[in-house]
Amino acid sequence: MFKGVEADQAMNSDRQTPPRAFIFTFGCQMNEYDSDRMARILAERGFESTRDLKRADLIVLNTCSIREKAVQKVMSFLGRLRPLKEDRPSLIIVVTGCVAQQEGEKLLKQAPYLDLVLGTHALHRLPELLDWIMTDRRPVCHTDFEYHLPPPPPLTSGDVRVRAYLTVMQGCDNFCAYCVVPYVRGREISRPPEEILTEARDLVAHGVREIILLGQNVNSYGRGLEPPVTFADLLTRAADLPGLKRIRFTTSHPKDLSPGLISAMAELGPVCEHVHLPVQSGSSRILKAMSRGYTRADYLDRVEALRRACPDVALTTDIIVGFPGETEADFQESLDLVSRVRFDGMFSFKYSDRPITRAARFEPKVDETVKSRRLAELQALQKSITLELNQALIGQRVQVLVEGRGKRYPDQLTSRTRGNKVVNFNGPDELIGCLAYPLIVQAWPNSLVGLLPDAESDPAPRKAGRPSS
Ligand code: 5AD
Ligand code: SF4
Repeated sequence: MFKGVEADQAMNSDRQTPPRAFIFTFGCQMNEYDSDRMARILAERGFESTRDLKRADLIVLNTCSIREKAVQKVMSFLGRLRPLKEDRPSLIIVVTGCVAQQEGEKLLKQAPYLDLVLGTHALHRLPELLDWIMTDRRPVCHTDFEYHLPPPPPLTSGDVRVRAYLTVMQGCDNFCAYCVVPYVRGREISRPPEEILTEARDLVAHGVREIILLGQNVNSYGRGLEPPVTFADLLTRAADLPGLKRIRFTTSHPKDLSPGLISAMAELGPVCEHVHLPVQSGSSRILKAMSRGYTRADYLDRVEALRRACPDVALTTDIIVGFPGETEADFQESLDLVSRVRFDGMFSFKYSDRPITRAARFEPKVDETVKSRRLAELQALQKSITLELNQALIGQRVQVLVEGRGKRYPDQLTSRTRGNKVVNFNGPDELIGCLAYPLIVQAWPNSLVGLLPDAESDPAPRKAGRPSS
């Protein structure tokens, strides 16, 4: 409970039920992890979670500012909260995440019904700041960088799931010309390995079987830690955790893809053969303008090294179209790189000017209609490649980890291959949380359909003789 005031008394004195918190997450997996962490912090303080905005006593928007469209989504959601606050002045509204960090005090002026603007380094301060607001009722903005990532409270027995995110480092030192992340998440900071492993053990004790290690630049994990530790070391230690069947990680920067990491992935049983390796552009000229720190040829060399060590590795990427100065020839190089590498999947975006970043001042800007056309062309190419790669799995038995019942088709189990492809198939609930080996019988661009010949499940994770994915 809160220090001065009991949470439920402060929110609604004539109600016997606990106060309810509604957390809405925009953006990336790190935000999902942070939202989960805030949910645990709030649960410790007596909050129940609700999915019903109208019944919430506390609304937290965990926001993203990576592109202008993301910020617009947040602002329009925030606008919808105004009448709720007018109806019920005791409602507390918090904006956190990257928009909070980027806009700070300005947000309080734009949305005077907001109670708290909470920066990306201050999530652990949520209880004390709520406490303050409840007694004082004056809006607060806290966006200092603290460079300290305290571990989240332990899970409760209600938190049951098969896969979970675990942030191992945050921030970024790369300052790519287009990217707001170093400004809104601060410099790179890695969590100590012992703390990460303790959190991982807690997740496994609560039924988690797959952990996705997160960092804006996860493969540079360890910089600044004493004693020195690399990301490959962390993977090696995590791979030894009893009960943990799979480990993934994201996002990797091509320039930091070390031979040590490649061999860790090739050798460690639980580490899945999937690398999300954002290339951003296929043109060396544009990569240079973006300050990515590698050329097109460097990127292709890394992919080759990766595939040599790990022939069935699944590769996904991010590409931006319409970076300032991107010509038709530059764009053709992006298309060509995609055709050569044949990524399993791709996230692609139209370049968006971000305040503060260097590229916001770069000229000439590419016309919006040109960006849209390039994006559509790129996505059509990738869709056909993804479909071909997925179709190539028809007739194979692949190792999947079963995550639960499908949302759209609850009669089916939903699962993922080691390469992160979704496979849906009929099977019993007992398989949830287990490894299984369905036969792939149908392929779509976004998922595969499997058939389970028998109820085979759960052999120990292994590298040799592993069915491909
Ligand atoms: N405009 C468009 N896309 C961007 N990304 C990052 N900044 C921008 C921007 N200003 C994309 C990159 C990154 C992904 C998370 O978002 O591709 O890898
Ligand atoms: Fe942004 Fe570049 Fe850092 Fe990725 S590596 S978070 S794109 S600055």
